[in-house]
Amino acid sequence: MIAGAQTRSGASNSTQPAVQLTDVTKTYDGTVAVDGLGFTVERAQVLALLGPNGAGKTTTVEMCEGFVAPESGSVRVLGLDPITQSAQLRPRIGVMLQGGGAYPGSKAGEMLKLVASYSNDPLDPDWLLDCLGLTQATKTPYRRLSGGQQQRLALACAIVGRPELVFLDEPTAGLDAQARLLVWELVDALRRDGVSVLLTTHLMDEAEQLADELVIIDNGKIVASGTASELTKQGAEGRLRFSAPAGLELSLLDAALPAGYHPVEESAGSYAIEGVIEPSILVTVTSWCAEQNVLATELQVDQRRLEDVFLELTGRELRK
Ligand SMILES: Nc1ncnc2c1ncn2[C@@H]1O[C@H](COP(=O)(O)OP(=O)(O)OP(=O)(O)O)[C@@H](O)[C@H]1O
Ligand SMILES: [Mg+2]
Repeated sequence: MIAGAQTRSGASNSTQPAVQLTDVTKTYDGTVAVDGLGFTVERAQVLALLGPNGAGKTTTVEMCEGFVAPESGSVRVLGLDPITQSAQLRPRIGVMLQGGGAYPGSKAGEMLKLVASYSNDPLDPDWLLDCLGLTQATKTPYRRLSGGQQQRLALACAIVGRPELVFLDEPTAGLDAQARLLVWELVDALRRDGVSVLLTTHLMDEAEQLADELVIIDNGKIVASGTASELTKQGAEGRLRFSAPAGLELSLLDAALPAGYHPVEESAGSYAIEGVIEPSILVTVTSWCAEQNVLATELQVDQRRLEDVFLELTGRELRK
């Protein structure tokens, strides 16, 4: 397990948000990569930027890291300007770049120790290598590591200096299921220790699993934001279905349900109620069944998934 005493909260001494973007725009040779983007990552929060290829996720993260200058708008990271105040900011943030960024000839363990040596109070590199399943690869040169090992080493480098805020650009891209789980556990441990995380992903289950707040972007603009459950509820028409003997009298059920919910017998013995299916709706239906001495079978609630929301908003598919 990664969860443990080794990471620490560096966030408690400040009231500034971890990241604050206001009306940020970036254009590359006429291509608008980021278009009036604004969001806030609170302290000790994990925020996932979710979007299809080319949506502007990496550009946004690079502006936060101080690698790319915004054309207009304001970027504040731990209250600082990531470009003009990068010297102050650098020791306080951890950066995991999309596709690595490494010293190709050096050995995995040496590389992590080198990065750790830049910090006043680093995590124990050997402990971190162990957490990320890299102990066997300690003496392997970076370029000989498998893609997944390189990815995990990049993550280790991002957090070894005990940053207050970590940027993870597609941290689990190309990882197998087991390695992905390790990374998820690590992100969870960081959050519990008060570290703020801005991560990007294409993976809906990852965003749902890890993030307190999701920001869905497309063409450099926010198309929706909120918690996973807020997003799947927004304007969502759900559906409750059940099977029971045909020809039941539904007027009492109709009266018991809130306004706008109407039970219908769609085909003989097959009943449905459309609307946002809150837990209380289920209670009403099952109480009515009990009063009627009717056993409802195949009771099923169909809910919108994050994937449906995403498709509605962007017309594009996310990778699963
Ligand atoms: N250095 C650059 N020069 C020119 N265009 C760029 C540059 N960096 C990004 N772009 C363009 O900006 C847009 C956003 O790219 P970005 O890399 O931010 O997207 P992304 O959401 O990270 O995509 P992916 O999911 O593929 O990583 C794309 O159209 C891309 O081609
Ligand atoms: Mg990217």
